[in-house]
Amino acid sequence: MHTPDLNLARKRTNNSVETINFCFNSDLRGIAKDKKYCLKTYGCQMNEHDSENIKALLEEMGFKESSTMTGADLIILNTCSIRENAHNKAFGMLGRIKKIKESNKDLIVGIMGCMAQEEVVVNEIMNKYKWVSFVLGTHNINELPNTIFNLLKNNKLTIEVYSKEGEIVEGLPSVRNNKYKAFVNIMYGCDKFCTYCIVPYTRGKQRSRKKEDIINEVIDLKNKGYKEVTLLGQNVNAYGKDLNINYTMSDLLQDVANTGIDRVRFMTSHPWDFTDEMIDVIAKNDNIMNYIHLPLQSGSDRILKLMGRRYTKKEYLELYKKIKEKIKEVAITTDIIVGFPNETDEDFNDTLDVVNTCKYDSAFTFIYSPREGTPAAKMEDSIDLKTKEERLYKLNDLINKYSLENNKKYEGKVVKVLIEGVSEKDNSKAFGYTETMKLVNVSGGIPSIGKIVDVKITEAKSFSLDGEII
Ligand code: SAH
Ligand code: SF4
Ligand code: F3S
Repeated sequence: MHTPDLNLARKRTNNSVETINFCFNSDLRGIAKDKKYCLKTYGCQMNEHDSENIKALLEEMGFKESSTMTGADLIILNTCSIRENAHNKAFGMLGRIKKIKESNKDLIVGIMGCMAQEEVVVNEIMNKYKWVSFVLGTHNINELPNTIFNLLKNNKLTIEVYSKEGEIVEGLPSVRNNKYKAFVNIMYGCDKFCTYCIVPYTRGKQRSRKKEDIINEVIDLKNKGYKEVTLLGQNVNAYGKDLNINYTMSDLLQDVANTGIDRVRFMTSHPWDFTDEMIDVIAKNDNIMNYIHLPLQSGSDRILKLMGRRYTKKEYLELYKKIKEKIKEVAITTDIIVGFPNETDEDFNDTLDVVNTCKYDSAFTFIYSPREGTPAAKMEDSIDLKTKEERLYKLNDLINKYSLENNKKYEGKVVKVLIEGVSEKDNSKAFGYTETMKLVNVSGGIPSIGKIVDVKITEAKSFSLDGEII
């Protein structure tokens, strides 16, 4: 039994990071072939990708997927800690699962993901949710088959969460959710410690994967017919800094582009480490998409400083300008937090000012949510929720206005779209994404699923485009 420890999670040392090569224990292959699992995933792409690994491990054990919780012998919640509502969703789901467990005593229930790494959460599970079967942290997904094997023999609460800085596990199998687009981790963890954010505690120290492992994964995906890869990390621009080799994100982007895969994306890029070399590499390679997610968080220098973001409004705007000037028809999106402790009207107006300058293609906007253990959670806050909500609505109105304005510019244009599948809203159409990450519903697109095709945009809406195959 290992429980999480906030003080250990906070620690960063210069200890070198070990790479473990995963090997599936062949004794466990097929042992659950008459059983079913139901996996619920919350949070970011990192968690989505972890879920692809979790699925593959379960399926190697023989588990089949169940679309309902009631039909499953194993339910796993792959959780997120980023804001209070993510917590509430997971605990709400546990409330529902409790009822299922009451009528099925053998049901195995597991908590994985970022909430598993939180001391407060695990304490609550040990006190109030003793019927949960296991809690497994983000650093040891590879232990899932053994954990389940032991639970099949003795279904008693098992907690295996390490707060060590983390290793790198290579060779985990993956059942990918999409046949044409794939996530490729390039680094794990985060050392930025923005004062509001829990990720550095739940995901550990920044660890970059070896470039050879990344490139080989991309080549393998390309050979399997994938059209697009998204290079994943909390701070992809800092790639390589921890490896002490003279190889940076711009070098990696160039090498990934050289594999010849049709589309390369990356997420998320912190403005702090965004170099001129990166901009040049993106600008000169046609297969690196002209789409950049550039989280702002706040436009106020005072708040940015309190957040520990290490850039000013002026520096952010300079970077924005450089990106816009150098990368052809680039789309830029962002993340913004309103209501950070003691954010004044003036601070908020600075944020609106940046939005009015950058006219983002779209943005994820959030009300600040205090996270236990982070420095910001200790700051006193005199701003009431109503004011924060009003700011969020005002901000969203502005964001939506610019989204529509940007989308309108596409009307009548012909753009390249990777067609992914049948549109959920209208099953006579297909859907896909432009190079600039705009969702398009495409008439006549269904025969082109899996291909990158020219689409003429017929109508622009705030959150999507309509188009037709030409
Ligand atoms: N690594 C990424 C962000 C990952 S979290 C980056 O630095 O850009 C995704 C977004 O969640 C953040 O950009 C931020 O806007 C938001 N977020 C993080 N912590 C939050 C908190 N405590 N309250 C509200 N929003 C938060
Ligand atoms: Fe969180 Fe900041 Fe790291 Fe992003 S860079 S994951 S916001 S600490
Ligand atoms: Fe959530 Fe963890 Fe991602 S906190 S946003 S799932 S890294």
